[in-house]
Amino acid sequence: MSVQTGPGRYVLFGHPVGHSWSPFIHGLFARQFDHVVDYKLRDVAPEEFRHEVINFFVEGGGGANVTLPHKPAAAEVVNELSARAERARAVNTIVRRSATELYGENTDGVGLVTDLVRNLGVAVAGSRLLILGAGGAVRGVLAPLLEQEPREIRIANRTPERAERLRDEFSDLGEISASSFDGVDDRPWDVIVNATAASLAGEVPALPPNAVGPDTVCYDMAYGRNDTAFMRWARDRGTDRAFKGWGMLVEQAAESYLLWHGVRPATRPVMDALERL
Ligand code: ATR
Repeated sequence: MSVQTGPGRYVLFGHPVGHSWSPFIHGLFARQFDHVVDYKLRDVAPEEFRHEVINFFVEGGGGANVTLPHKPAAAEVVNELSARAERARAVNTIVRRSATELYGENTDGVGLVTDLVRNLGVAVAGSRLLILGAGGAVRGVLAPLLEQEPREIRIANRTPERAERLRDEFSDLGEISASSFDGVDDRPWDVIVNATAASLAGEVPALPPNAVGPDTVCYDMAYGRNDTAFMRWARDRGTDRAFKGWGMLVEQAAESYLLWHGVRPATRPVMDALERL
């Protein structure tokens, strides 16, 4: 696949986007290669999204990231989807092939897996993995997680029917089951990934008391400057292996950078810079 290299205009489409650290992250990536990259935020209402994306690329835009709530709509705008983006039915990275030929990829799952496996040294292969939530965030990461060949994945959700639908959709890729939160086995899981929006409200799904043990890795896909409610909850239950999604954020951005510029930036210095902010 051809990649767009060198200078250019890049944007993050979202609604809202004001809180995003992506310009900071892409700015630090660009400095690693002496690239000149202009990366800006674009707050676009859902009804304007399609039109804005098409205009951006017709006017010479180099590439775009897409965040909530536009990821499913982005999958409808592009001309071609990667297999992962097709499974996820969501795109977070648009690559320009020409002004009218756009390619859509979803780097969220690779970002999560890279952070878990490479940065945090978590053995996902062979693990019992519990995912909390069954929304778009989970759909985006299921295929790359299953590629790691965990022993089993349980999807637990407040509305169990949504978890069951995801199970049915992805069960050809590996061992998946679905339940409510209180239907989760009451013994320590190897890895628990929180992908619910509960964290944003400072809430944590009500899991059975023994779901977290001292060796359980608890990963919150949400992030903020401070520890999330889910991280604090996990520590209270006796594990010190609780992480937030900063690494995932930086790793998914590095994958986007690779698609656009043909080189993958070092992520550790950028994570360190975020820590210091
Ligand atoms: P996203 O794209 O971020 O996944 P979403 O599709 O709206 O957004 O999904 C949000 C997820 O967070 C869902 O799994 C939702 O549970 P329901 O399917 O039952 O709605 C979950 N969620 C939101 N608020 C929650 C809360 N207070 N407690 C538990 N789960 C919550």
